[in-house]
Amino acid sequence: MAIKALVFDAYGTLFDVQSVAGVTDAAFPGHGEAITQIWRLKQLEYTWLRALMDRYEDFWTVTCESLDFTLSTLGLSATPELIAEIAAAYDALALYPEARQALEELAPFRLAIFSNGSPAMLKRLVAHARIDELLETVISVDEIGVYKPDPRGYGLVEKRLGLSREEILFVSSNGFDIAGAKAYGFRVARIERVPARSLRMEIDTADLIGPRTMFKALRMQPERLGETADLTVAALTDLADYALAHR
Ligand code: LAC
Repeated sequence: MAIKALVFDAYGTLFDVQSVAGVTDAAFPGHGEAITQIWRLKQLEYTWLRALMDRYEDFWTVTCESLDFTLSTLGLSATPELIAEIAAAYDALALYPEARQALEELAPFRLAIFSNGSPAMLKRLVAHARIDELLETVISVDEIGVYKPDPRGYGLVEKRLGLSREEILFVSSNGFDIAGAKAYGFRVARIERVPARSLRMEIDTADLIGPRTMFKALRMQPERLGETADLTVAALTDLADYALAHR
């Protein structure tokens, strides 16, 4: 079946979650790196734990709670106000440098975001990056109170776009999201932000594996969950050729 729409994951795919580093380091000089990595690891972990506990809270709450966990684990104290102020960095994440051009080149298709982010967070994020006019819609898991990779979430995308799963090319750099989307039945493109070979070189040459390398190893490699992306590309601008050939 022909591809009619491309649906993008937000955090880590269109937007660089590592770009909070400036804010975390400014708030706690010398600790930015550890905060940034533990925070993101914990943030997703909490979405999965809350899902298993059947205690859904929106992604803003999860983002603040995981930051709170991170700071207190590192022995850094912060008021709820400071936590909210740092968490607001998620509203101003940097767009990956090639993202705008990629979205422009993909204009012949219907384009959407599907994310764990709460509707308010996504609205602020998309407005900050000024890509609203390039997207048809922004879909949040919050509408049904589940988190990726719950199949009901991917099902919401199908429903909102009125397309069948085979007509959707889902784009993500997050291993768990790629596995979930593929298991659901989307065509899936993986954006390979960290090639396995460069990660291994980083590991081989490190005396001690640092937080960022650990993050790349845990979250930026393809998962062994029995599902593989249909295509793997280095950048978002590499998608147009495939999408246009399968139109
Ligand atoms: C999102 C998470 C997966 O944007 O990063 O949904």
